[in-house]
Amino acid sequence: MTHSISVGIDALAFAGPAAYVDLSDLAKARGVDPAKFTKGLGQHRMAIASPCEDTVTMAVESGAQAVRAFGIDPDEIGTLIVGTETGVDHSKPVAVYVHDLLGLNERCRTFETKHACYGAMAGLTASMDWIASGRARGRKALVIASDIASYGLGTPGEPTQGAGAVAMVVSEKPRLLRIQPRTIGDYTRQVMDFWRPLYSKYALADGHYSIQCYLDALRGARLDAVGERHDLLAGLSACLYHVPFVKMAFKAHQRELEMELGHALNKAEASTWQQLVESYERRCAPWLTLNADIGNIYTGSLFLSLIDLLRQAGADMAGEDISLFSYGSGCGATYCLGRIVEGAGDWRAALDPGEELAKRRRLGIAEYESLVRAGEQADRCETLDPFDYGLAGGLYYTGTRNDRRHYERG
Ligand code: CAA
Repeated sequence: MTHSISVGIDALAFAGPAAYVDLSDLAKARGVDPAKFTKGLGQHRMAIASPCEDTVTMAVESGAQAVRAFGIDPDEIGTLIVGTETGVDHSKPVAVYVHDLLGLNERCRTFETKHACYGAMAGLTASMDWIASGRARGRKALVIASDIASYGLGTPGEPTQGAGAVAMVVSEKPRLLRIQPRTIGDYTRQVMDFWRPLYSKYALADGHYSIQCYLDALRGARLDAVGERHDLLAGLSACLYHVPFVKMAFKAHQRELEMELGHALNKAEASTWQQLVESYERRCAPWLTLNADIGNIYTGSLFLSLIDLLRQAGADMAGEDISLFSYGSGCGATYCLGRIVEGAGDWRAALDPGEELAKRRRLGIAEYESLVRAGEQADRCETLDPFDYGLAGGLYYTGTRNDRRHYERG
C-alpha cells in the first residue's frame, strides 16, 4: 500500500454519559438469559444519557478533550463537522452550538451530517478532501461523532443501546493514523433496515434484515475499495468495523474472510472455522473492549474501536496497516485502509477514557426506566437541574426557555 498523500487523524477523544446499565441487570428485569446479551451479542454495559446530557454536551466534552490533550490551538480549526442521527433541532445544526461552546474561530465552515451511523465517516472523508484540495490552507478539521442510541423499553434493540461522542482532529500531518485516499471505497443502497421517523424519539429497526444489509454493504464497499483481493487480510494487523454490538464485528470479519476464500464458512468445516476464529481473535477482538463497555454510539462506534486499538497497541503497531469499515443504515458505507503513524503510542494517556469510565454510576433498572421516560419530555422542559441526576462538573443542557435550548457548566 502506498501513502502518497499524508492526511489522517491527528487527535482522538471520547466523552460519554455519567451512568450506565449493566446488561446482566437488564437481562434479569426482562426475563432473558444474561448470556444472550453478554455472549450472544457480546455486550456488557450500555451508557445511558440523562435528560441533561445530549448530543451537544457530549460533542463539546469530546472536542474539548481532543484539542486540550493533543495541544491543538482552537484557532487552527477551519472546518467543524458533527455527525449525528440524534440532532437537537430540525434546522439548527448541533455543530453550531458546539462551535460556540468550544470557542472556535468565526472563520470556520460548520455543519452537521446525518446518515444514521455513517455521519462521522462522511465528515472524515469530506474533511480529508478539504485538506487534500488545498482549501484548508494548513488548517485542521474537527470531526465529532455524537449520538444517543435509543430503541425503547423492552424492544429487541434495547440491549444494543448506548451513548457517547468521539472527536477527531483531521490534519495533513496526522500523529495517529494516515488514511490513503485511493483505498477509500463507498456503497449506497436504499433499504429500510433502521430508521427514526420525525415523530419518534426511538429508532425503529428490522433487526435481522439490518444485519444482512450491513454485510451486503461491507461486501460492496470493500469491492469498491480494493477489488477482488484474496490476500488483503494477511497484510492487515487489525480490522475495525462499525460496532452496533460486539458480535456484529465477528459476523463482519466472517464476511471478509468468506470474500477472500470465495465460499461461505460454517462451523462444520472445523479447520477454516478455526482460521476465522484465530483471525478474529488477533485482528478484531482486542479492540472491542470499549464498545462492549459503552454500547452502540452509532456514528462514533467505529472510532471508539480505533481509540481502543491505539490506547493498547499504538506503539507496537506503528507503521502497520489496518482496515476501517463504517456502516450507516438506510444505507451508506465506506471501507478504507489506514497506517498507524510512528509515535502514535506516545498519545496513550491522552486517548484513554478508562478513568472517566471507571467513575460512571451503575443505574438500577427502575432508575434507568425513569430516566428514559424523563428523556421523552426533556426537549420541552423549561428547567432541568443536573444535580437532580447526580451530575456536576460538566457541561449540561438545562432546559428550553422561550423556545431556545440552554447549556450551562455545572
Ligand atoms: N446464550 C448465548 N447466546 C444466545 C442466547 C443464550 N441464551 N440466546 C440467544 N443467543 C444468541 C443468538 O444465537 C444470536 O447469535 P447469532 O446471531 O450469532 O446467531 C444472538 O444471541 C442474538 O439473538 P437473537 O438474534 O435471537 O436476538 P434478537 O432477535 O432479540 O435481536 C438484534 C438481536 C436483531 C441484533 C436486535 O438487538 C436489534 O434489532 N438491534 C438493533 C439493530 C442492530 O443493531 N442492527 C445491526 C446492523 S444495522 C447497524 O449496524 C446500524 C446500527 O448501528 C443500528
